[in-house]
Amino acid sequence: FIVSSKNLLINAQKRGYAVPAFNIHNLETVQVVVEAANEMKSPVILAATPGTIKFAGEEYLINIMKAAAKISEVPIAFHLDHHEDVEDIKRAILLGAKSVMIDASSLPYEENISKVRDVVEFAKRYDVTVEAELGKLVGQEDDLIVEEGDSQLTDPELAKDFVERTGIDSLAVAIGTAHGLYKSEPKIDFERLEKIEKRVNVPLVLHGASDVPDETVKKCIELGICKVNIATELKIAFSSGIKKYFDNNPEANDPRKYLIPGKDKMKELVKRKILLCNSQNKA
Ligand code: 13P
Ligand code: ZN
Ligand code: NA
Repeated sequence: FIVSSKNLLINAQKRGYAVPAFNIHNLETVQVVVEAANEMKSPVILAATPGTIKFAGEEYLINIMKAAAKISEVPIAFHLDHHEDVEDIKRAILLGAKSVMIDASSLPYEENISKVRDVVEFAKRYDVTVEAELGKLVGQEDDLIVEEGDSQLTDPELAKDFVERTGIDSLAVAIGTAHGLYKSEPKIDFERLEKIEKRVNVPLVLHGASDVPDETVKKCIELGICKVNIATELKIAFSSGIKKYFDNNPEANDPRKYLIPGKDKMKELVKRKILLCNSQNKA
């Protein structure tokens, strides 16, 4: 069965590691993440944005996840990532999703709170974990685009108020990471993260972890990050493996052959990120 991410994150918080969350897109990406997690005995979160749900189809995706959970020997959580539509979230919960992010971070503060509370109240009835974001990350995640000037780091005092008033299970923080790749090395506000961690009890989530130097991610985990979101690097691994295959085999046409090098590259990456999060042997 599909577990909620609550216990996965609470365990990580207690023991000082992070659970990696990979954005998946199709059967092959799910297979790879689950295989790697099983080989490393790591809990993992498989995340889907609205764009992915639209691409793969809600029923297909949820049932692929159910199959994955059945086969897996380690706990895997299926998580709705960056969902802005409350009705979409409610429908997915009724289909069996156990972990959701309601992203109302583009709204004014009080509206963010009331939208998140609406989701939390519904989710609680189904034992579903809710993540929400305070602050704004720059960059692009599917259709969600935040320009440089609109970025906003998380205010530690507001974070405390936000968590208390919404009743969320985990908080996504904006501390200088961005969705996608960086033009220059990201500047992470570690002091801010420390202040947030002191004021907030729920596990903290790092978005935009692709292309962040390993040492920086490790430091964020030491300072209280319990979930590390990786999307872009997984896409790059998949496509680069496939591109290389076609470079060497321009006449290829069998997906059962040309997808393999893409899967292999993804698997290497997933394993590297599990070690980075120190979540191996924690399942
Ligand atoms: P990256 O694409 O930078 O890995 O960001 C992932 C993310 O935050 C998914 O929610
Ligand atoms: Zn994100
Ligand atoms: Na990034």
